[in-house]
Amino acid sequence: MSLELFNLAGKRALITGSSSGLGHAIATGLAAAGAEVVLHGRDAGRVSAAAEGFGGAAAQSVVFDVSDKAAVEAGIAQVEADGGPIDILFNNAGVQHRGPLQDFELEMWEQMLATHLTGAFLVGRTVARGMVARRGGKIINMCSLMSEVGRKTIVPYTAAKGGLKQLTKGMAVELAEHDVQVNGIGPGYFLTKLNTALAEDPVFDDWLKKRTPAGRWGQPEELVGAAIFLASAASNFVTGQIIYVDGGVLASI
Ligand code: GCO
Repeated sequence: MSLELFNLAGKRALITGSSSGLGHAIATGLAAAGAEVVLHGRDAGRVSAAAEGFGGAAAQSVVFDVSDKAAVEAGIAQVEADGGPIDILFNNAGVQHRGPLQDFELEMWEQMLATHLTGAFLVGRTVARGMVARRGGKIINMCSLMSEVGRKTIVPYTAAKGGLKQLTKGMAVELAEHDVQVNGIGPGYFLTKLNTALAEDPVFDDWLKKRTPAGRWGQPEELVGAAIFLASAASNFVTGQIIYVDGGVLASI
């Protein structure tokens, strides 16, 4: 059995929310495995800055709001017209907002669901049309520990990530006959901008290191192995699964 199974050469990968953070780390890892990567974001300036310095060569990029149906369909059409079909889709775009449930504004709830869940549905449905027609593809959704458990102050995020786990399973079952595999990755706590406030809080930092059997925060590049596996031929008979990369959090009480 060779490592050829994990080779992404000749494959085109779109990673949403990849101008920074976990999405950027995933894009970097998929490119290192041979994929032609398309970076994405909502902010044109941040996306072009990320594309300019990407792995030494300018990467392709696209800008659209994942929760805007028309923008998603136009953006995906442009990506495929410019450089060919998308073989691998990584739905990573996400936001975070923390606060007591009783104070959460409806608008923030709607934004959380729109970005994490509706966004993955809209982008996934649009890209799946081509994958079904070509009979083959890989879709990976960025789930979370909060696809399984809750933590105070992030109820809308938890609801969105719980829905994303079931969206992953639903898409997997629907698309399996078309040789399209749909899986998820559930990160534990990683040092990203989204979590800066947590990492800089000594009380939370101490709690997290005690709650995580590995005793530390994850580093974004530690998600790359699971991403390459789920994006490659090595996972052709794996679908509807969530791989948790969490330092042992979900295995422990
Ligand atoms: C939080 C964090 C978490 C992590 C991640 C864990 O406020 O608890 O933002 O949600 O980002 O999702 O899997």
